[in-house]
Amino acid sequence: MNREKVLILGGAGYIGSHVNKFLSGMGVETIVYDNLSTGHIEHVKWGKLVVGDLADQSKLASVFSENKISCVMHFAASAYVGESVVNPQKYYVNNVSNTLNLLGAMIESGVSNIVFSSSCAVYGKPTSLPITEESSRFPINPYGRTKLIIENVLEDYSKAYGLKYVALRYFNAAGADSGGEIGEQHDPETHLIPNVIRSAIGDLSELIINGNDYQSPDGSCVRDYIHVEDLASAHYLAKLYLDKNGGGLSLNLGTGTGYSVLEIVNTVEKISNKNIRLKFSNRREGDPPILYADAKMAKKVLNWVPKYKTIESILKTALDWHIKK
Ligand code: UFG
Repeated sequence: MNREKVLILGGAGYIGSHVNKFLSGMGVETIVYDNLSTGHIEHVKWGKLVVGDLADQSKLASVFSENKISCVMHFAASAYVGESVVNPQKYYVNNVSNTLNLLGAMIESGVSNIVFSSSCAVYGKPTSLPITEESSRFPINPYGRTKLIIENVLEDYSKAYGLKYVALRYFNAAGADSGGEIGEQHDPETHLIPNVIRSAIGDLSELIINGNDYQSPDGSCVRDYIHVEDLASAHYLAKLYLDKNGGGLSLNLGTGTGYSVLEIVNTVEKISNKNIRLKFSNRREGDPPILYADAKMAKKVLNWVPKYKTIESILKTALDWHIKK
């Protein structure tokens, strides 16, 4: 029987794989479409896997024609802020051009619902905090600009073609599956939490702090770390929302609390009982100093209730994953 399925582009990646697990746990059938350029085949433990690239329009079209797709979730993107500054072409091709291929395939096959992975990077350097969905959007790096471009495309396609979308503006995805089956794994690893943990458990000799001269309480950058399982539950709720509602919506997903780089270091030292050697270095280009969300709208519209309330509990799942893997 050809049952309705959710198509997860980039389902082998960090956030996509956790969403795949969550949806499967809720009894939703999934198909992961991933070129495995940064994702991990061993993290696709649920649903069906199609290895393919978003640039491959005929392969994409065949996935839509062979399956009954009720909703698309689009995680497949390049997501290193620093790399986007030095290699913007890669970002405009992967994140913009390839997404247009996907949207074209959806329109062609009459699939109207999409949950899009956007980012707090669309806000750039905020003029007031916490950041609400109404805050001005002036991204300060190419990565953020690619996400904003697609949000604008979604709005236009919604009016012109009846596309229905929820763009989820993630703050900093963090932590790992509490069942220990999947977690965060990038190569190269540039993200803070994995690097702090690798420094704590001896896989990195020292942790480089990208700037301690920002206008923040301790001089290091402040971010809002939201657990990846809480992001996953928001995707499921966004799908339910699209089943019942039309139009388009952009929502922040964060905890509402910011932690500095040095606070993350101190917390990991505490929960791992290890000392981390630090090396203070220059600022990383494209980094805004302080970001944290007002996520009231997502809670209200989607009935989203994040499970992880403390940074310790988030970091503990990440530490457990790194020790186990
Ligand atoms: N950092 C360090 N040392 C490291 C790694 C990171 O000091 O070894 C700093 C960064 O410079 C930054 C902070 O830690 O100040 C957080 O960095 P991450 O790379 O973990 O996260 P970002 O905030 O840069 O990026 C994340 C997502 C992006 C998203 C962005 C929005 O990875 O996809 O948030 O700002 F776009």
